[in-house]
This record gives sequence, structure tokens and C-alpha cells, in this order.
Amino acid sequence: MSENILEIKNLNKYFGQKQVLHQVSFSITQGHITGLIGANGAGKTTIMKSILGITNFSGEIRFKQSLITVNQHLPLQNVGALIEYPGLYPFLTGREQLQLFATGKKQQKVESIIQKLNISSFADIKTKDYSLGMKQKLGVALALVNQPPMVILDEPMNGLDPQATKELRDLIIAEKNHGVSFLISSHILSELQKLADDVVIIDHGQIIKNTTMSQLLAANQHYILLKTDNDQLALQLLDTVGYQISQTKESLQVLKTSQFKIGKLLRILFEHNLEIIDIQQQEGDLEESLLKVLNGNDKTHIRK
Ligand SMILES: Nc1ncnc2c1ncn2[C@@H]1O[C@H](COP(=O)(O)OP(=O)(O)O)[C@@H](O)[C@H]1O
Ligand SMILES: [Mg+2]
Repeated sequence: MSENILEIKNLNKYFGQKQVLHQVSFSITQGHITGLIGANGAGKTTIMKSILGITNFSGEIRFKQSLITVNQHLPLQNVGALIEYPGLYPFLTGREQLQLFATGKKQQKVESIIQKLNISSFADIKTKDYSLGMKQKLGVALALVNQPPMVILDEPMNGLDPQATKELRDLIIAEKNHGVSFLISSHILSELQKLADDVVIIDHGQIIKNTTMSQLLAANQHYILLKTDNDQLALQLLDTVGYQISQTKESLQVLKTSQFKIGKLLRILFEHNLEIIDIQQQEGDLEESLLKVLNGNDKTHIRK
């Protein structure tokens, strides 16, 4: 059975009179990537800062069973983190900052992370001249350089172009395959679609869903887009036999339910001598499917 590397129970946090976290509870399974999803202001960064012991909170946070408090965050030597914007020294180069952070076999660790993150082209430039994407990559490198068993990344895809996003994703997955556990936040669910094993969804400081990415994806609907030489007739025929079908400007959109069989659909069209001009698969929108899951979710079922 997989064990939890991190456990959060009944986390509450106030800024003055304002409560920004309400009884937040969830765990991170050892070796998993857990995605923390929520709109801006939902409380993601505050949760991460609490875990790192850099903000005070009430509740219980345990890393490998030991309790974390603001005064007692020794176990956190084992957690690499990138929170909000990486705090960088503007007049040091990326490589110099990595060397400053690295412990033990500094040279080897720094070289290895520069290679892995593909940042050698700018590692020797002072960070005051970095783009947002470069800063973000260096921030991730700083979180990973000491090869910690757990890594916390707060919106790590911010400012990265698609190529850099893919590189970062591949790196995170490679680290995970070496047993590293991750907590990664984003306000965009689809950014974590190819990454997260588990998904924790937070809204206004409350956990409203705690599930697996595969369960979330299963709730995502798929469609067949169909264009024939007589869409009107095709629509009637398929509608009559119970397909959930709608007509868009260019084509017919047929919902792929669990009983959907493409062969059966094609046979109906062939039997009526309809010619198929185009047929495509279309995936539903993940953010939309999330809303569907949430709407069907009674908030009284929040996991405590
Ligand atoms: N230092 C602070 N003082 C007062 N309010 C804060 C502070 N930091 C965050 N907040 C508030 O706490 C809530 C959660 O913020 P945050 O954790 O940064 O959300 P997220 O990271 O999901 O965007 C927001 O309403 C934000 O305005
Ligand atoms: Mg944040």
C-alpha cells in the first residue's frame, strides 16, 4: 500500500479578520504528483507556505509523520520549493545561485540540474537580465538541485512557452519516476492534465474535490464530429435511434456515450446511402468537465 509523505488536517488560516483557509485537509501519496487547482486567490500559495512553515496557521501538518510548525520545520530540509516568484539575487548568475543553494557535492548537483532543465544557454548570465520564463526555470532548478524527496512548485508553468512547459513536465515526470513526490499548483487544470496523479480542488479556501486525474478525465465527454452529404437526413436518422446529437455550422456532433459504437453509426449512414465527407474525434473541455463534476458534487461531502 502506498503511504502518505504529507498529511494536512484541518488547516485554518486568517489574515486579520479574514479567514482564507477553512478546514483544509488532504494528503500527498509518496511518489505521486498531486495537483492543487484553484482560481487566483483560492488559497493555493497560503497552503504551500503553511506546509513550508513560512506562515503561521492552525491545524496539523505532518511531513513523513513529523509535525510541522512555524518554529519546527526541520523536516523541511527535505522539501524543495518554488513559491510564487522565485526570490533571486539579481547580480548573481543562475549557476552561482544554484551553487549557493546546493549542499554536499555542489559541482556535480549543479551541473546535473543545468543539464536536466536545459538551462545551460543562460546559466552564466546575471538573473537581472532573465525573462520571466528563465527566472521560472531557475526557480524550479533551485527547488530540485538538492534532490529532495518532496518538491512543492507554485504555478511553475507561469511564463513558460509551450516548449519549456513540455520540458518541465518531462523533467517532473522523470523525477517522479525516481520516487520524488510533488505538490504542484495551477489555476489552469489543463496544465496539470498530463502531469498530476491526484487532484485537489480548492475554492475560496475550501477543498471542494479530492480525486484522481483519471477519474476527472473519465468525466470528460468525447464527441464524434461528422460531415455527410446530407447532414439533415443523418441528424434525423441518428436522432431517431437515440444518439445524442446536435448540429453545428460545419458538422454534426455526436456524444460518445458508454454504449457508443462507431460501426453501428456508420452502418446506419451507409444503409441510407449517405456519403461521409469527414469524421473526427473531439475531446470535451477539461475545465468544463470539472465544472460538471463540481456541480454534481454536494459541498456537504467535503472530505474532513
Ligand atoms: N499577506 C496577506 N495579507 C492579507 N491577505 C492575504 C495575504 N496573502 C494572501 N492573502 C489573501 O488570501 C487569499 C488566498 O491567497 P493565496 O493563497 O495567495 O491564493 P492563490 O495562491 O490561490 O492565488 C486571497 O484572498 C488573498 O488576497
Ligand atoms: Mg498563488
